Amino acid sequence: MLTASPHCNITLPILNKVGRNLHHQEHHPLNIIKTIIEDHFSKTFRQPSTSASSTEDEPVFRYFDNMSPRVTTQQCFDDLLIQPDHVSRAVTDTYYFDETSLLRPHTSAHQTELMRAGHKAFLATGDCYRRDEIDYCHYPVFHQMEGVRLWPCSEVDDAYVIADLKSTLEGLVRRLFGDDIVFRWDEAAYFPFTEPSLELEIWSEERQDWLEVLGSGVIHTDILRNVDMADHRGWAFGLGLERWAMTLFDIPDIRLFWSEDPRFLTQFRPSSKKTEDGREFVRFAPFSKYPPCFKDISFWTPESYHANDFAAIVRDVAGDLVESVTLTDEFTHPKTQRLSVCYRITYRSMSASLVDDDVNALQEKVRQLAVDTLAVELR
Ligand code: DAH
Repeated sequence: MLTASPHCNITLPILNKVGRNLHHQEHHPLNIIKTIIEDHFSKTFRQPSTSASSTEDEPVFRYFDNMSPRVTTQQCFDDLLIQPDHVSRAVTDTYYFDETSLLRPHTSAHQTELMRAGHKAFLATGDCYRRDEIDYCHYPVFHQMEGVRLWPCSEVDDAYVIADLKSTLEGLVRRLFGDDIVFRWDEAAYFPFTEPSLELEIWSEERQDWLEVLGSGVIHTDILRNVDMADHRGWAFGLGLERWAMTLFDIPDIRLFWSEDPRFLTQFRPSSKKTEDGREFVRFAPFSKYPPCFKDISFWTPESYHANDFAAIVRDVAGDLVESVTLTDEFTHPKTQRLSVCYRITYRSMSASLVDDDVNALQEKVRQLAVDTLAVELR
């Protein structure tokens, strides 16, 4: 843990991810998805031009992908009308440098700064950080893209903005998932920074379920007023690049994005084998599946206990060797009201077989750290 501020909960493994910029890395699946989306916006909307025929309602989209992930609570929460007691502000959920600066948990943190700088149509992509559970689709670092488009109030009303938001994002989803994609809008979604809020879901044949692919909505008028754009209306959206890439390339585990194994990275090069069934995105071919190793741990929790703190310990000890941490049992003692929990930790390497002794050593460290830093009582 960095100790500059007592409020700091950023550990070295997390800090070491800052600057990796997977979304900049050529032929990395996250970079491929980002590039296709930017390219789609470039084709759909007007390009910089001096021609007199260009109309004002076709904006030029600007692309930002190099903004520092260190942001302030003002940018990240206050400017977006996120309530003071909202769970996303908690130290159990977010990585803080100190009380007012943090690693952005979403790229929405750049909305107001870019609007203040006068941008009215932009995509902002970057690495985001959240303390969370551990499983195949949750990793403390992931990547998001934020999109914003504004118009002068004199040109549009809310119905127009919503219709444009829907047609733009439906076009985007069709561009990536194909014309046959089945989608639906969840209009009961809620985000503090949009009114109304909408989520777009696509039907996943593989999972036989709906998959949420982005959050969006009409930008709250208070946000526009605070950035001196009270005379504008507009929409915003945010999407997670990992989720799109995992679905499009069939990537089964989010840890793979961090792999430096050429067997992962070379699969996405344009020159590698083309799909036989005419797919644009190659289906990721697992290069090997090494056996998992399960370890259980159970303990009595103190009152202040939070599952994300335990996940952080396991992640810090085992790095990318941990595949999942699953709560398998919990019960409250009828007399003392103390909560006991049991987790199954799945260790699995992506590139080698794990040796028993190594896993036992990791598990021992997890047990020790849980006692030392979380004040749990092992059972
Ligand atoms: N920031 C949201 C998240 O991380 C995603 C999002 C939802 C962004 C709605 C937006 C929006 O711009 O309008 O879950």
